[in-house]
Amino acid sequence: MDVKTRGVAPTEAERAAVDSVLGAAPPRDLHDVVGGHTNRTRRHLLLPTLHAVNDRTGWISHAAVDHIAERLDLGPAEVYGIASFYALFQLSAPAEHQVHVCVDVTCRANGGLTDDDLPDGAHPSPCLGLCERAPSAFVVDAGEPAHRSVAGHVTAVDVRSWVDGGRPGPEAPPAAAVPQAGDPSLVLLRRVGRTDPLDLDAYIADRGFEALALARDLGAEAVIAAVNDSGLTGRGGAGFPTGRKWEAVRSQEATPHHLVCNADESEPGTFKDRTLIENDPYALIESMAIAAVATGCDHGHVYIRGEYPRALVTLELAIDRCRRRGLLGDGFDITVVRGAGAYICGEETAIFNSIEGYRGEPRNKPPFPFQVGLFGKPTAVNNVETLMNVPHVLLDGHESRHRLFCLSGAVVRPGVYEVRMGITLWELIELAGGLRPGSELRTVLLGGAAGHFVGPADLDLVLDHDEVRDAGLTLGSGVVMVHDQHVDMVDQLRRIAAFFRDESCGQCVPCRVGTVRQEEAIERLAAGVTAGDLALLRDVGQAMKDASICGLGQTAFNAIESAVDRMEVFS
Ligand SMILES: Cc1cc2nc3c(=O)[nH]c(=O)nc-3n(C[C@H](O)[C@H](O)[C@H](O)COP(=O)(O)O)c2cc1C
Ligand code: SF4
Ligand code: FES
Repeated sequence: MDVKTRGVAPTEAERAAVDSVLGAAPPRDLHDVVGGHTNRTRRHLLLPTLHAVNDRTGWISHAAVDHIAERLDLGPAEVYGIASFYALFQLSAPAEHQVHVCVDVTCRANGGLTDDDLPDGAHPSPCLGLCERAPSAFVVDAGEPAHRSVAGHVTAVDVRSWVDGGRPGPEAPPAAAVPQAGDPSLVLLRRVGRTDPLDLDAYIADRGFEALALARDLGAEAVIAAVNDSGLTGRGGAGFPTGRKWEAVRSQEATPHHLVCNADESEPGTFKDRTLIENDPYALIESMAIAAVATGCDHGHVYIRGEYPRALVTLELAIDRCRRRGLLGDGFDITVVRGAGAYICGEETAIFNSIEGYRGEPRNKPPFPFQVGLFGKPTAVNNVETLMNVPHVLLDGHESRHRLFCLSGAVVRPGVYEVRMGITLWELIELAGGLRPGSELRTVLLGGAAGHFVGPADLDLVLDHDEVRDAGLTLGSGVVMVHDQHVDMVDQLRRIAAFFRDESCGQCVPCRVGTVRQEEAIERLAAGVTAGDLALLRDVGQAMKDASICGLGQTAFNAIESAVDRMEVFS
């Protein structure tokens, strides 16, 4: 391709950052003659290259865009179009010290800042996946290497000091997110707090990699049969049976097959996958290797959200240690892809586009991922928690009746809880220590921003897929966000509407326009109820449900509708 650029040379730092991912540039005439096709086959390196530049220099300048375009033989507009898709990339001016402050639902209900309260220089952020220590923030210092840190229980004074150049102190240990740590009855969380998450010998001594050996002995069909018998369903939100998904991929003739572990975890109120990775990374690696046996893959990708610095480092270190021991790399290996701030990239086809170096926009289905997925090949996409059930299924013949819930808000001990399905909502809240002293239950947001508000009358709800579905609700990704009498419900709905408007990829009209109209109607309703606006809100919500391409638009009205109907907000 004859790439037209503005002719401004990149800085040495920009060039070095690009080279760190793409290697040194070949001589120019060689590039023109034979390099173009090769360069375009490396398009999947675009996202890591953008990260490298943004990490090192604090932004992605026009000169850097042009340089990346030349190196990958893409149009500069295309590179810019990808970079501008992601919230964590700075494009207008260098920002060597960035402070992202969560302004989302749990944090604002826990006394956090809102967009209007933020000091100049701080960026409002959607949920940072740290809701158990809400309000939260994420601070990035560009450089070589870049420094990324997160903080909980953040005050306005903290934010001010970080905007002025400071950084958060050390994080609490990963086990702090699991109030049940050490309980001998735990299955998925059983190693939390008992062993050093990165001690490979301790993992192996604790039956680590036994399930993988068994899977290799049993073979794909038997593994799939065991997973089917266990009743394991997806924990990423849709609840699809895992064994059926694997069988569908396994039986495809096209090769190679791919496995994608979805660790994007951006549903407001969700932090279980972060907790699993930070506390038990080898178990995820082993689980992926078993999924690879079942689906016939020799390579897996983990797509992990960019706002999870500790989970990212932990996973990369664990993968490296497994490679050195020969546990990865021979027959199966894993690539980690870091997201860059886009909720939509957790959608199972948007994730493919993001990994491949395109805008993270969902694809139309069919074809389904098991037919045409990552790089056009049959692909199994599974959530972290889903995968991490599998070793237990194989070793202990476990029925998959336990699952994780993310408790946040007005409870005594917020955190990740493992329970057997069938527990009631109130029993789960009691497990988290009950309501904070002085709190009276106003509402629970069940399933996240894409879920529903329920009220005190629903406390006997049995948290089981069928029961919850029959009640017109969803467990989603296991969010249980508890609000007391102090919550401002209209403020919550405003924030949820803003979240969906912001995170819509804009590809299809019902969602692109609907999320804007929904937010406008809520603003008007907040100013004074009019029957016309309520009717409009319902019309728009129905249109999004019926006609949106993907789950984002299809669920963008759920929480708002439930607040209007069940909680009588705006009545
Ligand atoms: C907007 C949107 C965001 C999503 N985000 C995630 C996510 O962060 N993690 C996840 O596992 N699934 C997410 N999903 C669900 C995935 O599309 C997919 O169903 C899931 O990864 C499949 O894995 P499972 O069968 O193990 O649940 C999202 C779906 C939508 C529509
Ligand atoms: S529903 Fe929304 S997020 Fe999904 S494809 Fe359409 S515009 Fe994009
Ligand atoms: S970390 Fe703020 S809402 Fe989740």
